[in-house]
Formats: sequence, structure tokens, C-alpha cells
Amino acid sequence: MITSILETIGNTPLITIPNSNKANEGQVLFKYERYNPGGSIKDRAAIYIIEEAEKRGLLKPGGTLIESSSGNFGISLAMIGAAKGYHVIVLVDPKTTSANLALLKCFGAEVIVVTEQDDCGSYHKTRISLANKLAKEIKNSFRPDQCFNLLNSEAHYKSTAKEIMDNCPKKLTTFITAVSTGGQLGGISKYLKTFAPEVQIIGVDAEGSVIFGGNADSYRIPGIGLGWTPVNLNMEYIDCAYKISDEQAFITARAFARNEGILMGPSSGACALVALKVAQHLTPEDRIVCMISDGGERYIQTLFNDEWMEQQGFVTKVDREAIRTMAQQLQPWSRHPAASANYRTDLMDSLEVPDSTIQLNSEVRN
Ligand SMILES: Cc1ncc(COP(=O)(O)O)c(C=O)c1O
Repeated sequence: MITSILETIGNTPLITIPNSNKANEGQVLFKYERYNPGGSIKDRAAIYIIEEAEKRGLLKPGGTLIESSSGNFGISLAMIGAAKGYHVIVLVDPKTTSANLALLKCFGAEVIVVTEQDDCGSYHKTRISLANKLAKEIKNSFRPDQCFNLLNSEAHYKSTAKEIMDNCPKKLTTFITAVSTGGQLGGISKYLKTFAPEVQIIGVDAEGSVIFGGNADSYRIPGIGLGWTPVNLNMEYIDCAYKISDEQAFITARAFARNEGILMGPSSGACALVALKVAQHLTPEDRIVCMISDGGERYIQTLFNDEWMEQQGFVTKVDREAIRTMAQQLQPWSRHPAASANYRTDLMDSLEVPDSTIQLNSEVRN
């Protein structure tokens, strides 16, 4: 018997994609994170950070969790807060979909919409600074702080990465995932470079994000990208980086629903496209694990809505071969991402990162 919904986090399946992946190519395995109870990979980092904070006395019964999140991490915290009896405040922005807002509210979270853009044209910095300010004002509160808290990547080092190594049939050749806070890419790349250094690590970002360098611009892929290189990501572990356009990400995600019966969000569409590209250059003995960070239901009104797609100027129908050709034509953004890292140590001060994060980080580093 399972005594709490929270015990069902993790142990997600690896799934083949036989209708999209040819038998003479490398075999793509999707690590399908939709099966987490909060519907995304973010459940893993959220439960790990909350339980570590409880153990270390930073989070007390009846406390308030305050977080900046445009979607998945906030939903995970809202679910965990409901199960454990914490009040949850989530700072979102105007890009947050109505489906995500509804999910946050259905778990009882309080939602604050931050409308002021930061100097990168996104809302990350303004959301984070307001969350930090509220955490100072609200008694018995705790900031999980997914952007600056190193427990985020440690969660994936300890759970997601180990699951991949334990469950992937021989031989794992390539690992692919999307990046925003760097939690998943940072934690999993560290684990693989330690225990299986031969595995090629590929990071996937949005065109317009500057995690791997380049110029900042606006983009529509939710959950991906940042205006700087996150502290949770050690770029020395990353072998190659791709930047994917909004339209490529959205139409690939739609194609996988039609061609494989697999629902996924746009960030996973971006990763899946890179996986199809990599597979075309490998042999059937090679395995490519590609993270599918969430499912598609939370994008019903955008990604899976023809009218919305047309309003963005995106095509709505693309056949299987066209997706394979699009994948073939992709070119890496960088084959040595560490050279264009964009770390911003000054942000810890200017955004007033909470003392609890600084304390946790010093314990994680030691
Ligand atoms: C759907 C989705 N994909 C990818 C990511 C990126 O993961 P990370 O923040 O661990 O880098 C996120 C993060 O919010 C996400 O929600």
C-alpha cells in the first residue's frame, strides 16, 4: 500500500518510439516524466528540496513555501504543500497558461502574477526578487529557490540519473535534456561524467535564451531557457548544445502525439527533435536517453490548439518524414558550451538570494 501520493514520485519508464525511429539508427528512449504525480520532472527536485529543508530545520510544520515558477515547479510544490500541510505562494508571469494557473489553484496555492519584465526581456529576475522580498516579510516561510539552490541538481544526481543508468539497456551513448534552472542537466551530467564518462551529454535550449551564450530575445517555449547560465549547471560536463526555435519545438511535440501516441510539452518536443537527429548518426547498438519533462494536457489550449498555433504563425500539420528531415538539418549551437558560459555571480547579491539558500549551498558543496 502507498501511504502518500508523494511516494509515487520517480521511477518513471523508458519508452521506445518505433514509429519515428528507424531500425538501422541509434535507439531513442524517452524518459517519460509525466508519470510523476504532479505531472512533470519537477516533482523530483521539489520533494527533495522540501524534505532536506525539513531535516535541516529550515522548514517547520505549517510553514509557507514561496517560489518563482512559470509552471511545473510551482505545481509540484503546490501538490507537495497540499499533501504535507504547507501554505504555498507561487509567483508566475503573464506567459503562464490558464491550465497551469488552474492546476496551481486546484492544489490550493496562492498565485501572484508578476507583470514587470527584467532586462533580459523575461520575468525570471523580477519574479525571483519579489519572491525573495516576500520570504523576508512572511514569518515561518521557506524559499525552495530552484534557480540558485544546489539541492535542485543534487535531486537529479541522486534519483533521475541513477534510474537512467540502472534501467537503460547497454549501451547508453547519448543523454539529451532541456535546460532552464539547470537542475536536470546539471545533476544528470555530473552523475554520468562520474560513472559513465563516455556518454555524450547534450543540452537543449530555446533560440533567444542565453544559457549557452548568444543574444537574448523573446521565445515562446515554456519551462526552458534563462537570461544567464544557472549555478546548478557545470558547463564543463556538457559536450554539445542545441538551440531550437519555437516552431520546431511546438510542431515536433504535436507530431509525437499523432505518430507515437505520446503527449509532451514543447520543451520535450525540442529535445525529441535533437534525439531524432542524433539517432540518425548512430547504430542500433547505441541508446539515446531523451528526457520528456512533462505531458501535453497542460498545453491543450496552446500547443494542441490549431487556432493558437496559427496565431503564432506556426504550421499545424507536419508529416513524419518532414520531422525527420527537420531533425537531420539541425546544427549544434556549440560543441564546446563551456567556452560561452554566461555565469552571473553578481545576481546572488542583486536578487538578494535568501540566507537559507546560501546555507544549503555551503552544505551541499562540502
Ligand atoms: C517542461 C520543462 N522542461 C524543461 C525544464 C528545464 O528543467 P531544469 O529547470 O531542471 O533545467 C523545465 C523547467 O521548468 C520544464 O518545466
